[in-house]
Amino acid sequence: MKHILRSQQFDRPALEKLFSATDELSALYETPAGKRDIRKLCEGKLLFAVFYEPSTRTRFSFCSAAQHLGMMTLQTENAKEFSSAIKGETLEDSINALCQYDPDIIVLRHHETGGADRAAAVVDRFDHNVSIINAGDGKGQHPTQALLDLYTIKRELGRIDDITVTVTGDLANGRTVKSLVYLLAKFKGVKFVFLSPENLKMEEGIIGHLREHEVPFREARNLEDALTDTDVAYWTRIQTERGSSNTTLDLTLGVPQMKFMKEGSIVLHPLPRVNEIAKEVDGDKRAAYFRQVRNGMLIRMSLLRELCG
Ligand code: CP
Repeated sequence: MKHILRSQQFDRPALEKLFSATDELSALYETPAGKRDIRKLCEGKLLFAVFYEPSTRTRFSFCSAAQHLGMMTLQTENAKEFSSAIKGETLEDSINALCQYDPDIIVLRHHETGGADRAAAVVDRFDHNVSIINAGDGKGQHPTQALLDLYTIKRELGRIDDITVTVTGDLANGRTVKSLVYLLAKFKGVKFVFLSPENLKMEEGIIGHLREHEVPFREARNLEDALTDTDVAYWTRIQTERGSSNTTLDLTLGVPQMKFMKEGSIVLHPLPRVNEIAKEVDGDKRAAYFRQVRNGMLIRMSLLRELCG
């Protein structure tokens, strides 16, 4: 795999191999000697993080992962303003120029759906030896978020097969939910429950994919219906930066709503949250969203190591 652009690139054996490699790397990382050894794995390699949209986790997660592996990193936040994009340079020219500095990997977050595909196309057309990682492209996908979500489910529940996953929020514009649904649909006995405002329902392409692969899904009537019997509650925010608004449904997950959930279930959120999960929920052991953030760095270490050969 040269580039990581979308979830559909990963089949089940590839996912299992990635998760085993991440478990091994993670065990090493937890010991001082292992942490030192890991710093030699990608020594001398160079990663660029080019972000046209804001980020807290993805950019720091990739840069931390890279530096723990001994890579050098260079980054720009808000590339829309702080790169020559503001002077009118195309994404294609920017990527082609950055490739002249011999990075091994470019992690790209772009505001337009298809941005990562365009970057990968330039790399391939000019035969650059550079991998593009899609760190979110508009309303498109965020495949490494989905990989870390899936890895978190495996670590927390001990399995990915035979689970019910409730997905709430802005299902129309949330790129993390799209990438996650594509990945989960590859596992046996996974059932989906969707709960979203009327105007923010899951797009027809994903629904068609679930029907084609005979993956069961249903829409929940309310929060109680969505949470009772679920194994994973995947909460997301309304994507106001993409023009979304919610005036129809209160999707706040607070302590009273947590009572609907089973012992042994988990709550995930790609973060950032706004007000859709009350901070009082953070103390519940089923709230796994900050453990999920740490898993992000671990899975990205594993991906970078794989791409660096
Ligand atoms: N989950 C996620 O993509 O977070 P950031 O926008 O902070 O990178």
